[in-house]
Amino acid sequence: MARILIAGCGDVGTTLGLALNAAGHAVWGLKRHPGDLPPGLQPLAADLTDSATLNALPPGLDAVVYTAAAADFSKVDYEAVYIAGVRNLLAALKRTGQHPLRLLFTSSTSVYAQHHGEWVDEDSPAEAKGFSGRCIRLGEQLLWDSGWPAVAVRFGGIYGPGRTRLIDSVREGSAIRPAGPPLYTNRIHRDDCARVLEHLLDLSDPERLYLAVDDDPAPLAEVLGWLAEQLGVPEPPLATQPALKPGAETRRNPALRLRASKRCSNARLRASGFTFRYPGYREGYGALLTVNR
Ligand SMILES: NC(=O)c1ccc[n+]([C@@H]2O[C@H](COP(=O)([O-])OP(=O)(O)OC[C@H]3O[C@@H](n4cnc5c(N)ncnc54)[C@H](OP(=O)(O)O)[C@@H]3O)[C@@H](O)[C@H]2O)c1
Repeated sequence: MARILIAGCGDVGTTLGLALNAAGHAVWGLKRHPGDLPPGLQPLAADLTDSATLNALPPGLDAVVYTAAAADFSKVDYEAVYIAGVRNLLAALKRTGQHPLRLLFTSSTSVYAQHHGEWVDEDSPAEAKGFSGRCIRLGEQLLWDSGWPAVAVRFGGIYGPGRTRLIDSVREGSAIRPAGPPLYTNRIHRDDCARVLEHLLDLSDPERLYLAVDDDPAPLAEVLGWLAEQLGVPEPPLATQPALKPGAETRRNPALRLRASKRCSNARLRASGFTFRYPGYREGYGALLTVNR
């Protein structure tokens, strides 16, 4: 039985924690408001941005998984959660005399600046221009520099139960298919996120970095069209122009605003022995649509 701390224990962290607990491990879920954690996770009320609250970490931790997410899309929040929070937690682990055998950090494919539909993998430059990708990239580095064995996992867009923004936008008629060259999107189901993290906790000699996306970096227009077909609603209209400048269309459709078009390879993750429960959007969204019907 291992002793595992999940720091910033939200949707992915809780799903992981329940699986780890079911496998016989002792799991602590750290967050500011832990009252909503389900039985099986031991609640730990603390604020990663406030070192003084991190003195009561459980002793003898074998593994720590950092899954905190910024609540707002702001530089202040990203710096607080992905840089200061990581730094504070690492310092607290040292202060409390811990020797974790493995640290995991939930990173993001937003660390890549590539946006012309090119393939990227773990060896591609990760030189995001925006504050979000840059902060997350710094968080990865802090873990790698900690002196403890650390693995960063770069997730694509997470969807799953309760995370149905794209489905809702098609159903409501507010989605817009991007015009111009294919806008490739990368995603992973929430349950597969948790399964990837569990897999990497178990792996005997992991690499320090994995991209975690499903097998199908499909163009956004294709995904929207497929969803419309499944929902029996009209295909979302095509944007009037390919230039993705800020404006009404991009405000209504955040995927356009990001302007990111890249295809992330999951070859390293698959070579490590991981198999997806939802290998593509059809399987993942299909399961959600079945539940929501
Ligand atoms: N959303 C995506 O598509 C996406 C894509 C790539 C990577 N990721 C990453 O995947 C990870 C898991 O995401 P998720 O969807 O599970 O996030 P989530 O459900 O929003 O959970 C994040 C948790 O972090 C906690 N938290 C935030 N600030 C904190 C602080 N200062 N101190 C302690 N806890 C704090 C929050 O709980 P309290 O409010 O109670 O503190 C929340 O429950 C995150 O690192 C995220 O950045 C997400």
